[in-house]
Amino acid sequence: MILSMDEIEIKLVANPYSVYVGTGWMELLPPFVEGQARVPVVSDRNVWRLYGEGLKNSEEVYGLPELVPVLIQPGESHKNMKTLEKIFAAFAENELDRSGCVLAFGGGVVGDIAGFAAACWMRGVRYIQIPTTLLAMVDSSVGGKTAIDIQAGKNLVGAFHQPSLVLANPALLRTLPPLEFQSGMAEVIKTAVLSSEELCAGILSMEPGVVDPELECVIRACVRFKGDVVAQDEHEGGLRKILNFGHTFGHAIEAKYGFKKYTHGQAVAAGMRIAARYGEGCGISEKGISSRIEALLKRHGLLIEEDAVDLIPWIRNDKKTHGEAIDLVLLKYIGEPVVIPTPFSELERTLKKMFKK
Ligand code: NAD
Ligand code: GLY
Repeated sequence: MILSMDEIEIKLVANPYSVYVGTGWMELLPPFVEGQARVPVVSDRNVWRLYGEGLKNSEEVYGLPELVPVLIQPGESHKNMKTLEKIFAAFAENELDRSGCVLAFGGGVVGDIAGFAAACWMRGVRYIQIPTTLLAMVDSSVGGKTAIDIQAGKNLVGAFHQPSLVLANPALLRTLPPLEFQSGMAEVIKTAVLSSEELCAGILSMEPGVVDPELECVIRACVRFKGDVVAQDEHEGGLRKILNFGHTFGHAIEAKYGFKKYTHGQAVAAGMRIAARYGEGCGISEKGISSRIEALLKRHGLLIEEDAVDLIPWIRNDKKTHGEAIDLVLLKYIGEPVVIPTPFSELERTLKKMFKK
């Protein structure tokens, strides 16, 4: 019996799928893995320690095939070629064939690398996202971006490969370390300011760090918003770029500190603060938008100040640059983002003028 689950359809023309947010989702799995002798479950050691036994127990309860853990070390530093090779070796050992399906059971790191492994294996097999972090539930598990990092940069080797199903149980977030929770909230706040006043109000009133029905509603709203964007622009030709709000500056902040000082979400939070002030300073954004975004960030412990001028060389190295310009995502109003192609020379001049020390 499904206890409580909301279905959100991701209406992609070629490969539509559903995201379920709630509890009781294991009973949805059997049709996706029918006829498979063994199902590889890519997970990290932290997640498996907490939830592996529970997942294994569902084999008998739901009549599933054997779920074989393919465990990776936790953390971004393991989202790499070496780990990918180990995953491929496990796929081979378990005789995963073209009709097979893989489970990605973990945060964004597991989802990205398992999804990429599935995209490559025999030129593409199905996979199911079972996200266990807030960031993965609201962002990375939906939309089919998969990747690994290489020496030259983060997420440089990847593919668009949509999952066949996404099963998100917010109860799993109860064990998430507070810093990881906050990191996910940054993507939640990003979605809220891109989408609506209503979602912003909800986020301002919710209790920080608490897993409750309100959080579940917020997760659903974020998935709906991202799903709509992805359905309109799967391969980021235009509209999907809005999902990078705060990320140009955020990636530069991460890179400046060698990916050590901040989590991805914290860096995005600092980046959104810069983007909001930049937009307001240029007259593109409505007056007062930056203080409104700051209020949201402050509410969730994400009010982080970083120097914008120092970021220029790091922004130049961003993989999303094209020639001498970069697509800046700014907000006209809450719920009304714009993508502005901006030459570096102009960006540099404006940053120096606006953020002079
Ligand atoms: P993560 O996967 O590294 O997880 C963070 C930490 O939380 C890990 O130590 C993990 O073991 C632990 N953890 C996971 N679930 C847990 C739980 N329920 N209880 C306790 N601990 C748990 O980090 P993340 O923030 O989920 O993901 C970051 C990654 O996502 C980055 O690699 C980023 O590039 C990627 N990403 C991808 C997309 C996309 O569209 N594909 C979007 C945003 C981010
Ligand atoms: N996280 C941004 C995207 O999926 O496009």
